[in-house]
Amino acid sequence: MSTINHEELEPIEKASRDELQALQLQRMQWSLQHAYDNVAHYRKIFDAAGVHPSDLKCLADLGKFPLTAKQDLRENYPFNLFAVPMDEVVRIHASSGTTGKPTVVGYTQNDIDMWADVCARAIRAAGGSKRDKVHVAYGYGMFTGGLGAHYGAERLGATVIPMSGGQTEKQVQLIEDFKPDIIMATPSYVLNLADEFERQGLDPAASSLRVGMFGAEPWTDAMRKEIEARCGMDAIDIYGLSEVIGPGVASECLETKDGPTIWEDHFYPEIVDTVTGEVLPDGEYGELVFTSLTKEALPIIRYRTRDLTRLLPGTARTMRRMDKITGRSDDMMIIRGVNVFPTQIEEEILKLKECSPHYQIELYTEKQMDKLRVLVELAPKYDQLSAEEKAAVASKLQHNIKSYIGVSSSIELRQEGGVARSEGKAVRIVDMRSR
Ligand code: DLL
Repeated sequence: MSTINHEELEPIEKASRDELQALQLQRMQWSLQHAYDNVAHYRKIFDAAGVHPSDLKCLADLGKFPLTAKQDLRENYPFNLFAVPMDEVVRIHASSGTTGKPTVVGYTQNDIDMWADVCARAIRAAGGSKRDKVHVAYGYGMFTGGLGAHYGAERLGATVIPMSGGQTEKQVQLIEDFKPDIIMATPSYVLNLADEFERQGLDPAASSLRVGMFGAEPWTDAMRKEIEARCGMDAIDIYGLSEVIGPGVASECLETKDGPTIWEDHFYPEIVDTVTGEVLPDGEYGELVFTSLTKEALPIIRYRTRDLTRLLPGTARTMRRMDKITGRSDDMMIIRGVNVFPTQIEEEILKLKECSPHYQIELYTEKQMDKLRVLVELAPKYDQLSAEEKAAVASKLQHNIKSYIGVSSSIELRQEGGVARSEGKAVRIVDMRSR
């Protein structure tokens, strides 16, 4: 079991709320001014809204400034939101998105250092130290997952195993041979790895891995329990997005596991109403918005993440936490007027011992109506159920989805390997609806 050495925390992690807020205000003033002075887009939208960086007298004044959306990054493709000359940009990442141009983000050397610092802090909060070997199974490349985790582990002084995504058989072999302590991967991929362990006749719970740091996609507490039981490790939630820096914007503390602590000295969170954009008080659910406080190459002001959650008071740290992400506003399915997120379906699936955590949701049209079908694999132990037993499981799941979520569905139970496996971010929704 991991423990946390609180002596090793950075002073700001132990600062009072007042100290933290004083630092945030000073940094926020700098960040707004930096964006206004160096990025034409921000100057234009601040001017149009009749606000100037000097109008920010307290943290709450941030709400007077305009919001930024993914569309703004697309419209300024590729480098027009950069606030420093290109010769100061030492790294570029991009996030693919499903359609259109990718969103491009840039980093100065100071940005890379800050990113490594927050990722090192996240690994420490998860119980890691320089004595650990960290197996990084997030993809390396334009995606921020691999390199972000990598630099953080190195900054902590740990030993990095830069495995990247894919080559699942080989991953298992290297985990067996190199005996890493910590794995960083998407939660859906670690389940894929656990299956591969079993396929090779190995018990995933007997591996050297003690902690997993999982993120890059929504996952539920039910999934956490499933992973912890099956893999014999502590499963920690790490959150981030490329527009704000990459992984390490927020991360859970091992001693509490109660939602990611936001590293608020660098990333200032707000929750806004998804429709009106109005700022909501802490504790209320809405869309998470971030303002970078120290970023040089790509200052980001009031960026709408489309992630739905709420802000909670600090527990293991003075910094605030975010609740586990319910889903992205783009992933919300509206089935005959009922709003549904994949995470809600995940919770119902994981309540049934006969179901595995491998699932996908298909949306299709039948007689001009939107329909929802859940494809889910039977847990290996229950692979041999009779047709009647399977029908009973399917009908129970269907009943639970109807009574707890309020939506009608059809269920298709499949044998092991019948649902597409993830090598990175899982694809939960397959939309086949006719427009
Ligand atoms: O996914 C960065 C990352 C890498 C985070 C590795 C954590 C670990 P993007 O590709 O830009 O960056 O995607 C960001 O992924 O807006 C969320 O919708 C989702 N996401 C990231 N972490 C979590 C999490 C990386 N812990 C988008 N829980 C975000 C739920 C998450 N959703």
